[in-house]
Amino acid sequence: AVDIKTNGKITAQLTSPPHVPDPIGSRPAKHVLVDMEILEEEAQMANGVSYIYWTFGGSVPGSFIRTRLGDEVEFTLKNHPNNKLPHNIDLHAVTGPGGGASSSFVAPGHEITFSFKTLNPGLYVYHCATAPVGMHIANGMYGLILVEPPGGLPTVDKEYYVMQGDFYTKGSNGEPGLQPFDMQKAIDEDADYVVFNGSTNALTGDNALTAEVGETIRLYVGNGGPNLTSSFHVIGEIFDRVHVEGGKLINHDVQTTLIPPGGAAIVEFKVEAPGTLVLVDHAIFRAFNKGALGMLNVTGDENADVYSGTIQEGIYQPEGGTIQTMPGDKGAPAAPQAASLSERIENGKRLYARTCLACHQEEGQGIPSAFPPLAKSDYLNADVDRAISIVLHGLSGEIEVNGETYNSVMTAQTLSDEEVASVLTYVYNSWGNNGTEVTPIMVTKAKS
Ligand code: HEM
Ligand code: CU
Repeated sequence: AVDIKTNGKITAQLTSPPHVPDPIGSRPAKHVLVDMEILEEEAQMANGVSYIYWTFGGSVPGSFIRTRLGDEVEFTLKNHPNNKLPHNIDLHAVTGPGGGASSSFVAPGHEITFSFKTLNPGLYVYHCATAPVGMHIANGMYGLILVEPPGGLPTVDKEYYVMQGDFYTKGSNGEPGLQPFDMQKAIDEDADYVVFNGSTNALTGDNALTAEVGETIRLYVGNGGPNLTSSFHVIGEIFDRVHVEGGKLINHDVQTTLIPPGGAAIVEFKVEAPGTLVLVDHAIFRAFNKGALGMLNVTGDENADVYSGTIQEGIYQPEGGTIQTMPGDKGAPAAPQAASLSERIENGKRLYARTCLACHQEEGQGIPSAFPPLAKSDYLNADVDRAISIVLHGLSGEIEVNGETYNSVMTAQTLSDEEVASVLTYVYNSWGNNGTEVTPIMVTKAKS
């Protein structure tokens, strides 16, 4: 336990990656206000590929939070009114229920405040913990919070913020357009993208990190997952020091360090010679074919004592997803038509978990004043053609469900006729609804 008096109030500086806030230096423990806003927004995953990210502060990973041991953090979490979903935050630096998640559940258009004291120094992951938890994390809801020891970490020349994450999309790697999240691939841990800082281009080209020969570099490296452990390596460097697992233990002269989902490490090295250093997950197909590749451009004078030779540029470049496609590969076959009512309900249940559950919830209970219930819904049971149309085309404007008014937006769901039939049949045959069977023919008819 710590016995530190706090001394005055300050507002935390928050930064988006790859930047970190200023070091705490010699400041005493204080009452620190952290103000963070959740934003759901579309951004680029790869060239020609976009994705709807859910973010802490508008970036993936979310804003970097820098504190010191003994700070009393007063954390205000805002959920932007344009967002569609409720969220919360679990910070691994917190000693308390759910790491704060139990006190921070917040609906769109609202904000909530909770407080904690930083009791252990180190580098910690934070993430959303709202059901379905895996989906919230997979959409980018993670970041890092640093708790510096009294007096701060030793001074270095450059500090950067890098965080790995794996992404699961309907289309395979490189397939263009806005790509929706794929729940089944996420459950199967079959990632289409593995990236640093949210996209394949976040740390390459004009976005590469920079340093000069002779500088000391500190990387705060986290892994949001949700599934894959990183074998973090920098091609052309050796880590002089690694704060193993982000904690107090320091290892020296390390080539590759393991960073699990929900974990972090601090790596430090001195750059001795000019050239491009390449950050990778050394599970190497992830680096060259799925995006887990970043660059650190080191400029300055040659240092022939350390390295000499003619240098050919462009040796380590991303190779993209298309290279993975071997001749004879076919896309996933269309799901066959369900053979019976029970098979249709079974298929619909899986589709519901993947497509509707995030909003309408596990038992179809919905979320008060945000998402209407599908359980015993008078609105649903009154009109099956209308229900089909809602799933096909979405719905907006005021409606009344079981005596409660909702005035929100449901977007069109991209499902085949067979899938619409199955998911609605599941809904109609669950939670006290009227048992209607919806067939693909009914869905096709509703379209004409
Ligand atoms: C309304 C079904 C996915 C948000 C409705 C209604 C139905 C329905 C039948 C009419 C009201 C009621 O009976 O309660 C479904 C099905 C889905 C799905 C079967 C999956 C295939 C989603 C998702 C979201 C969502 C993913 C959130 C991102 C909403 C909202 C309304 C609504 C906000 C009310 C719209 C308004 O106020 O006009 N949904 N839904 N739904 N749904 Fe969904
Ligand atoms: Cu969330």
